[in-house]
Amino acid sequence: MEYNYLKIKNENAICTLAISAPKSLNALNSTILKELDDFVSNIPADVRVLIITGDGEKSFVAGADISEMCNLNREEGYAFGRLGALVFRKIETLPIPVIAAVNGFALGGGCELAMACDIRIASNKAKFGQPEVGLGIIPGFSGTYRLAKLVGMGYAKEMIYTGRAIRADEALRIGLVNAVYEPEQLMAEAEALAIRIIANAPIAVRIAKESIDAEYDLAADDAILYENNAFGRCFETQDQKEGMSAFLNKTKPEFRNK
Ligand code: HXC
Repeated sequence: MEYNYLKIKNENAICTLAISAPKSLNALNSTILKELDDFVSNIPADVRVLIITGDGEKSFVAGADISEMCNLNREEGYAFGRLGALVFRKIETLPIPVIAAVNGFALGGGCELAMACDIRIASNKAKFGQPEVGLGIIPGFSGTYRLAKLVGMGYAKEMIYTGRAIRADEALRIGLVNAVYEPEQLMAEAEALAIRIIANAPIAVRIAKESIDAEYDLAADDAILYENNAFGRCFETQDQKEGMSAFLNKTKPEFRNK
C-alpha cells in the first residue's frame, strides 16, 4: 500500500513512523487510520522497536479529524471509533516495544494514540488532553479505558470531564510520560531509548512485553503463574544461554534472536 500520510524511516532495527497531515495538525482521518492499520499489520520482521511521532514541529496528533466526524450518525460513529480502536490495539499488541515521541499537541485521539504505545516521552512543548466532551463526544479511541489505567481514576476523570489540556511537566508528574526533553533533543532521546532496548535479548524483551500486558488484568495468582510459564520459556532460547555465559565469562553477549 502506498502511504500518503505516513513518513517511515527504517534503520538498524529501529523504525520511526511520523504521522503527516500538515493541514490539520496531523489529525487522524479514516484514510490515515487505514494506512496505520496496513503499516502495523505488515511491519518488517527486522524491526525491533517502533517509534511513533508527528511530522512537523507543532503537533503529534491533534485528535481525530473533526471535519470527518461532524456529520456521522450513530452507526457511523461506532464504525469510526471501532476502526481507530482496533488499529490502536494492534499497535499496543505488536510483539515489539513501541515508543511515542510526543512532539506537540497530543489531544483527543492523539493522546489516545500515545497511550496505546508502551512508553511515552515528550518535548517540553507537548500538550496532552482529552477535549472530546467539549465537542459533544467522549474519548472514542479507548481513552476512557487507557487513561485511568495510566494516571489513575481521579486524574483521568478530571481530565476527561473538564477537557483541560496539560503541559508536559504535568504529564510527567502524573506518570503519563516517562521523560521530557528539549524539542530538538526528543528524537535523539527516543532513538537512544530504542538502542538501549535493542541491546538486550530480543525474545526476552518480547516475552517481557507479552507478560506485562497479559498479567495486568489477571488476578494475582494467575498473573504470577503466567510469569512463571513465561520465565520458563526463556530457557528454551539460545540467547538465554548466551546472556548468562557472557556474564559469567565477563564478555559482551551477542544475541541472535534465537
Ligand atoms: C480537524 C483540525 C484538528 C482536528 C486542528 N485542525 N485540529 N482539523 N480535526 N482534530 C485544523 C484546524 O481546523 C486548522 O485548519 C488547522 O488544523 C490548524 O489549527 P489551528 O486551530 O488554526 O491551530 P492553533 O490555533 O495553533 O490551535 C491548535 C489546536 C486546535 C489547539 C490543536 O487546532 C484545536 O483545538 N484542535 C482540535 C483539538 C481537538 O479537539 N481534538 C480532539 C478531536 S476529537 P484550518 O483549515 O482552519 O487552517 C477526537 C476524538 C477521538 O480526537 C475519538 C474518535 C472516535
